[in-house]
Amino acid sequence: MRLLLILFFSSPLFATVTYQQVKPIIDKQCASCHRGPFLDLRDFPFVWDMADTQEEVVIEMLKRVQMPDRDRMPPINFPRLKDHEVEILKAWQAGGLLP
Ligand code: HEC
Repeated sequence: MRLLLILFFSSPLFATVTYQQVKPIIDKQCASCHRGPFLDLRDFPFVWDMADTQEEVVIEMLKRVQMPDRDRMPPINFPRLKDHEVEILKAWQAGGLLP
């Protein structure tokens, strides 16, 4: 029984993060500014006139949310993402950006 539980909790299925977990974070912290072709974060897949792929957008997002105050997103004066929110973004990226 114990072994079964361990197998269950360590299985990739249990760790799967989809856009459904990511969307509330982006809606709350990013979407108020990021609308339109420059970098539209309202809905996945995101639109960004400087990126060719969704992976590129997400790599840049993850960089920005972890930067020091001067360069970070959301900008200074706006609340930073919580650590667990950054972890959700990372898990989503690692899992292949599931919709
Ligand atoms: C208060 C408005 C505002 C909020 C909130 C905000 N951004 Fe931004 N973002 C900007 C502006 C303005 C720029 C362009 C200036 C710059 O690059 O610093 C920008 C630039 C960026 C860029 C870089 C684009 C480039 O050309 O290099 C990324 C990536 C980004 N934001 C992601 C995010 C993410 C992810 C969030 C939420 C966690 C977020 N932003 C929240 C206003 C905002």
